[in-house]
Amino acid sequence: MILPPLDDIIGWSHRLLAEVVRPGDALVDLTAGNGHDTLALARLLEGKGQLLAFDIQEVALDATASRLAEAGLTCRRIAAAQTLESDGLFLIHDSHHHLDRYLARGLNGAIANLGYLPGGDKGLITRPETTVRALEQVLDALVPGGRLAVVVYPGHPGAEEEVAAVETLVSALPAADYDVLRMVVANRRRAPYLLTVGRRRVEIAG
Ligand SMILES: C[S@@+](CC[C@H](N)C(=O)[O-])C[C@H]1O[C@@H](n2cnc3c(N)ncnc32)[C@H](O)[C@@H]1O
Repeated sequence: MILPPLDDIIGWSHRLLAEVVRPGDALVDLTAGNGHDTLALARLLEGKGQLLAFDIQEVALDATASRLAEAGLTCRRIAAAQTLESDGLFLIHDSHHHLDRYLARGLNGAIANLGYLPGGDKGLITRPETTVRALEQVLDALVPGGRLAVVVYPGHPGAEEEVAAVETLVSALPAADYDVLRMVVANRRRAPYLLTVGRRRVEIAG
């Protein structure tokens, strides 16, 4: 098994999700952006299952659609709230805190790569309130054994509030139900870091 370089936080997020995701599963990308994470998750499904990818910027969804198309994958663009029951790759032009308007299944995996769109408007960043609401919905929807990977960026203006909100959320999760792993490049200041939350499998006694 080839593991990512130690400082490749996004590579680690994909690796930790790949450990639990199987073809046929249900996945969410809360921040499609340029589509790197969406494509990585789509590949894990091998053409079976469902992936919902959200972004509030059309330009991001265009980039994601192009990246999927280049990889030979077809997707549907969704512009109005609706429960999505069928398999497929769906690119949703909406804020991720509206996830519950679309989600019809328990989630096996999810990713949230926070901050601003690389190459885009650096003032348009993910915000603490909507981020936390979206993460809470994912955590409720995770099936036992499912995982959520959050790539947190402490470096840009406005990031501190979101970092604090996400840290407060994950540190309050009951240890009986969730495990939370933090991966950080300890010798690089303000580098992005990874929080991975796993929903524990319920042990049935006796
Ligand atoms: C760091 S980028 C994501 C990178 C992306 N996952 C990739 O692989 O290229 C963050 C994205 O979050 C999006 N975003 C910001 N607020 C959002 C919200 N409330 N709902 C959904 N997407 C949002 C931005 O438009 C931006 O494209």
